[in-house]
Amino acid sequence: MDIVYNIVLVLHFVGLAMLLGAFLVQLNSKEKNVTRWMFDGAMTQLLTGLIMVGMLESGAMGESEEVNHIKIGIKLVIVIVVAILAAVGRRRQQPQPTLWLLIGLLALANVVIAVFV
Ligand code: HEM
Repeated sequence: MDIVYNIVLVLHFVGLAMLLGAFLVQLNSKEKNVTRWMFDGAMTQLLTGLIMVGMLESGAMGESEEVNHIKIGIKLVIVIVVAILAAVGRRRQQPQPTLWLLIGLLALANVVIAVFV
């Protein structure tokens, strides 16, 4: 089961790269757009995150593996907000600097929470 979990974790990092990469690549651009990479990245984070939580909670990874519910709860709320902002931003006429910044900061906040909480 470890190999499956690790593959999902790698995909979790791919989703992170899609989301944060779409934000960072525009730091030097004059126009800040909300791109589909942001929504797809958030969805990848959500799906892979839920799969990992499911595997940990089910005991498939061994009884010693515990899930930090507070941390996961905060990450879950943030990623849903990011996905909504990305979906709304994509429908609006570009550029969308405020939404672009909010999405980037929230994604960054989730990295900080993942590492420090
Ligand atoms: C923008 C959204 C997200 C970002 C940037 C993010 C970031 C990260 C990072 C950097 C890690 C590796 C660090 C570590 O293992 O402590 C990680 C691990 C993990 N994430 Fe996420 N994550 C996001 C969303 C989610 C969501 C929505 C869930 C669950 C519903 C989730 C569940 C997990 C789990 C289970 C791990 C494995 C390690 C652990 O127990 O913390 N993540 N995430």
